[in-house]
Amino acid sequence: MLNIKNTGTATLTIGDKTIKLPILEGSEHEKAIDIRALRKETGFITYDPGFVNTGCCKSDITYIDGEKGILRYRGYGINDLADTCEFVEVAYLLVHGTLPNKKQQTEFSEHLNNHSMLHEDMRHFFNNFPDHAHPMATLSAMAVSLSSFYPELEDTSTQENIDYKVTRLLSKMRTAAAFSYKKSIGHPIVQPRHDLTYCENFLNMMFSTPVNNYQVDPIVAKALNKLLILHADHEQNCSASVVKMVGSSEANLYASISAGICALWGPLHGGANQHVIEMLERIIEEDNGDVKKVIERAKDKNDSFRLMGVGHRVYKSYDPRAKVAKQMCKDVLAKLGTNDPLVDLAQELEEAVLADEYFQSRSLYPNIDFYTGLTYRAMGIPTNMFTVMFAIGRIPGWIAQWLEMKEDPHGRIGRPRQIYTGPTQRSIS
Ligand code: ACO
Repeated sequence: MLNIKNTGTATLTIGDKTIKLPILEGSEHEKAIDIRALRKETGFITYDPGFVNTGCCKSDITYIDGEKGILRYRGYGINDLADTCEFVEVAYLLVHGTLPNKKQQTEFSEHLNNHSMLHEDMRHFFNNFPDHAHPMATLSAMAVSLSSFYPELEDTSTQENIDYKVTRLLSKMRTAAAFSYKKSIGHPIVQPRHDLTYCENFLNMMFSTPVNNYQVDPIVAKALNKLLILHADHEQNCSASVVKMVGSSEANLYASISAGICALWGPLHGGANQHVIEMLERIIEEDNGDVKKVIERAKDKNDSFRLMGVGHRVYKSYDPRAKVAKQMCKDVLAKLGTNDPLVDLAQELEEAVLADEYFQSRSLYPNIDFYTGLTYRAMGIPTNMFTVMFAIGRIPGWIAQWLEMKEDPHGRIGRPRQIYTGPTQRSIS
């Protein structure tokens, strides 16, 4: 671990007992009170539903300043990475800690190509999912199935094995995602090709058919590359924490990632990108585009409705990924020469959110999911695949977080405590 400092102590007094707790400081001066000895010394635990104030690890991977709207992977700003890098380079960066040199990038890309096909027996799984199966369910099942087909990759002891594992997952999950889409529309699957880049390959597997001469649009491939970079990691979010929690029991990487995919699926997390589009469609169809009415519903405490794509646990200013996604959405629509009434509605909704005291006072801004779904839509990606796109982008982050947890000398099985509030002992008679 880099730059963790012990910078003093905090004093805690409970009744007549006083204890000193170490204060830790990270490389960006984030401070934490180390409470590891708390229960042993006092008998008390902490109560923090949703882990709002709980640091579960030290990490070198991703830095977020939610107040200032900063996001960096391994020290590099998200805008710089999105503007200048290939997704594959960013995947390498997250896992290895440095951007690849030419040789490393070539080797990494070769691994990706060499492992892009799915085992034929695995391919047959797709035939047994119903056509209406959500592709996130299929993807999660495929991720855990990889552990049966490639058990030799359990070993993470050598760098070479790690690269095999990473590239297998990145490459095969992309293939599985495209296959699940083809299955859902009843089309024959399209195999990956060595002559295409990571993003081009995905688009080709999604949209090529035996009867069309599909050519990947470079605008669409470029946008996909950027979107996957925006998704690539986000420190200790819900799905990454799930991946690590599962991995902390020494379950294998594939099982851990499979669980992470399920966590990402939820509408309060990555599933929000699909729900944003569905919400916008409903506003047009059921509310005649009445943004004011929807804003009032979102503010009504007796109504469970929330604005999808708005709010974030960490960002208390504009999500820097949402800024990039918003601009990209406009660029992609302009370059493809398409109009989408949902984009106009989204902008109107955003303006209403930013001007409203309810959202201002709670620091609620559009998050990454507000504009990414609209961009995917412009690129021709079907709505139920949006969260799958997010998952493909997030795989490098999950792997990096999982590997870091494995190497952490203080790592222990994840096992929170509780405050029991049920009945005290009672007898049956
Ligand atoms: N619409 C209306 N009100 C909201 C919204 C919203 N989208 N989000 C938060 N609030 C309100 C809450 O009602 C609460 O109000 P209160 O203080 O009067 O009780 C306050 O803002 C704080 O909200 P919490 O739920 O406590 O915030 P938390 O950090 O637990 O939740 C979350 C964050 C889940 C993202 C939330 O903002 C939300 O549900 N957003 C909509 C779903 C969404 O877009 N999820 C994607 C997040 S990005 C990602 O995961 C990739």
